[in-house]
Amino acid sequence: MVFTDEVQASQQDSRFDLLAYLAERQTLVEAALDRSLPVIYPQKIYEAMRYSLLAGGKRLRPILCLATSELAGGTLEMAMPTACALEMIHTMSLIHDDLPAMDNDDYRRGKLTNHKVFGEDIAILAGDGLLAYAFEHVAVESKQVPADRLLRIVAILGRAVGAAGLVGGQVVDLESEGKTDVSLETLNFIHNHKTAALLEASVISGAILAGAAECDVQRLSRYAKNIGLAFQIVDDILDITATQEELGKTAGKDLQAQKATYPSIWGLEESRHQAQSLIKDAKAELAEFGAPARPLMAIADFITARSH
Ligand code: IPE
Ligand code: IPE
Ligand code: MG
Ligand code: MG
Ligand code: MG
Repeated sequence: MVFTDEVQASQQDSRFDLLAYLAERQTLVEAALDRSLPVIYPQKIYEAMRYSLLAGGKRLRPILCLATSELAGGTLEMAMPTACALEMIHTMSLIHDDLPAMDNDDYRRGKLTNHKVFGEDIAILAGDGLLAYAFEHVAVESKQVPADRLLRIVAILGRAVGAAGLVGGQVVDLESEGKTDVSLETLNFIHNHKTAALLEASVISGAILAGAAECDVQRLSRYAKNIGLAFQIVDDILDITATQEELGKTAGKDLQAQKATYPSIWGLEESRHQAQSLIKDAKAELAEFGAPARPLMAIADFITARSH
């Protein structure tokens, strides 16, 4: 997937080339993901898992994890297994989100959805396989990380994806479909859980792997919660304003499914304003870190500038 010109234009820090940074990190992540999951017997399930895992995508979650590991004085190598695990978990959530029983989508990352190619049975199992393998991968492949930090990572990932996080958000998202009286409080619950929880785990996990001080982890957590909510608000906006070609997924689905979204409650203009304001708050949390936080600053801007 290629990053677009408006990102370059939106970059406020001319000393940092976000496009080059993202492209370089994407290449590293793609190679690590490809190596992480060879095809063995029974081939069908590994092919289904690889079909979605290697279908492109922005790789934002692994890139955030790698970035905070470096910010906290760690290496790319020590964070890469967790970075890959985050993408495996995210890919599972996309495969399951697209199932007929959930959002019933036919396209994802510019390709047919997993269940359209492999059938619903295998798509469910491919998601299960990716979720389980994410934890195995962190436990088996992490190098030069003390065991107590890895144990904390396992707990953070589990909580972010489970009923206290992504799964809980998806449940309330589905419950709210078709309702016209969804409160802002409920909408924030949905977005903070289905999307921001895993983004927060992505941001803090890199820092924890590298042994960051607790006050820095807390600062990064506040940055992440803000970009996480902004990210889903922008996803809601793009569902209305972007084309299928730009998104790699069918546009206009939220209105059709009567989803509770930011634009459905606030309208497009106010939703854009809210997203910008969250990004401003996120960036304010980074001030203490100075120049080493440039990638995280630029990624925050990228969230509202993106076209897909
Ligand atoms: C899509 O996530 C699902 C949401 C949480 C909004 P991304 O927009 O990060 O999708 P990819 O990984 O780039 O395909
Ligand atoms: C994303 O919500 C939440 C998860 C996949 C966990 P959406 O349902 O809005 O995501 P898209 O628009 O299908 O990518
Ligand atoms: Mg959904
Ligand atoms: Mg969906
Ligand atoms: Mg969406």
